[in-house]
Amino acid sequence: MTRPTCKFTVLPGDGIGPEVMESALRVLARAAETDGFSLDYSTHDVGGIAIDNHGTALPEATVEACAQADAILFGSVGGPKWERLPPAEQPERAALLPLRKRFELFANVRPGLLYPELVDASPLKRERIPHGIDIVCIRELTGGIYFGQPKERRRLPDGREEAIDTMVYRTDEIERIAEVAAVTARTRGKRVCSVDKANVLTTSVLWRETVTRFFAEKHPDIALSHMYVDNAAMQLARDPNQFDVLFTENMFGDILSDEMGVICGSLGMLASASLGAADNRHGHPVGLYEPAGGTAPDIAGKGVANPCAQILSAALMLRHSFGLGATAARIESAVRETVKSGVRTGDIAFGTEPVSTAALTDAILSRL
Ligand code: IPM
Ligand code: MN
Repeated sequence: MTRPTCKFTVLPGDGIGPEVMESALRVLARAAETDGFSLDYSTHDVGGIAIDNHGTALPEATVEACAQADAILFGSVGGPKWERLPPAEQPERAALLPLRKRFELFANVRPGLLYPELVDASPLKRERIPHGIDIVCIRELTGGIYFGQPKERRRLPDGREEAIDTMVYRTDEIERIAEVAAVTARTRGKRVCSVDKANVLTTSVLWRETVTRFFAEKHPDIALSHMYVDNAAMQLARDPNQFDVLFTENMFGDILSDEMGVICGSLGMLASASLGAADNRHGHPVGLYEPAGGTAPDIAGKGVANPCAQILSAALMLRHSFGLGATAARIESAVRETVKSGVRTGDIAFGTEPVSTAALTDAILSRL
């Protein structure tokens, strides 16, 4: 049997990105060794460091390397040094949005997982989430108001200024994200809640009709419900576990997934996958995998950042882009058991003695 090769691009980025990426690569190397596959990756600049070294947050060479690979393992980008740039040139926006568009990364899958042992990390009261949180938020990522045209500013004859963004969705875009939600729900509680604003927005009326028809035809056994986005924001804070899989359009998903992040406690624990429309050489979607937290400039370079989100993002990469679900599950349970056992970085210490990034990584490795 030939050993499958996982060819991916590593984009560590700024702040804590490079430190936690090192942890993820150590975990991947160990998993490859024990589970009999090999790794083939190259590392490239993205974000602020790319602005410093190449004058742009997303150099052509970085894009080209991503195009040659089957997946992208992304760290995090941005920081105080680049905050004064015009919005369109800032590392986050100038790196992530074009990558999403270029590789048609239309489905952002964010697990909202809070272990029962870490319930104190959540701002929600313990009685609302006695057993932690286990939901998934799926966000449409390449359509809607972030990308719709026209998108412009103009001066009116009377001197006032006017700005326009356009929210637009087509049925095929809605159906493909609905399919991701259904497939995800099938591996979980088989319940999907579609979030929209169909009492006001025309795009939402089309969204709701399309989703309803699509599930009736393709996934009649999955329980589908609908919720308005304002109510969904409230329900997430009130009783997050009423949801199994939440899915919604781009801007609503941007907001709800951050809300989900905060109720799940430490951003240092949250991974995400942005899945592409095209298949890679393994017959799985290309994808970009990144932790949900930012660059954490305040602790960058100190060796104390929580590497779990980056490690869990690497696990998602193995599952979604390389079909190595069993290995991904082993990594996920190694992370869970390690954190449960009380080996934790400062952000999730809660009375345990905080350990370094490297020590937490070592503890995870020892369980693999
Ligand atoms: C995210 C980020 C991006 C977004 C920004 C950087 C454009 O906040 O992944 O949610 O809002 O889409
Ligand atoms: Mn966002």
